[in-house]
Amino acid sequence: MYSDKVMDHFTNPRNVGEIPDADGIGKVGNPQCGDVMWLYIKVKDDIITDIKFKTFGCGAAIATSSMITELAKGKTVEEAKVISRGDVANALEGLPPQKLHCSNLAADALREAIKDYEAKKATKG
Ligand code: FES
Repeated sequence: MYSDKVMDHFTNPRNVGEIPDADGIGKVGNPQCGDVMWLYIKVKDDIITDIKFKTFGCGAAIATSSMITELAKGKTVEEAKVISRGDVANALEGLPPQKLHCSNLAADALREAIKDYEAKKATKG
């Protein structure tokens, strides 16, 4: 069954939405279940000052999306890069084994958003 933390983040997800002028956008999908997540980050002086997500997915995917926004907000880009799938699951006080793959989506989306941010920064010079 789901932990209270998972239920809390599923029923009351944090940082839902879109950042129109995001510095980085990550989009990942899970080919097995068809769930998709978009993650938007705003970066100032190397710190993730804002982060939002949109997830079309299962309850666990929504809870992990919400949790990763809380974990990443206020962190430096380097710190956020090392947030792992396990960190997300742990912060949610665990996920049922058949739902562990859902936390991959959130961690991967964050990494993609950071990659996008770094690529944009590199082209700006
Ligand atoms: Fe698709 Fe959870 S079932 S991410």
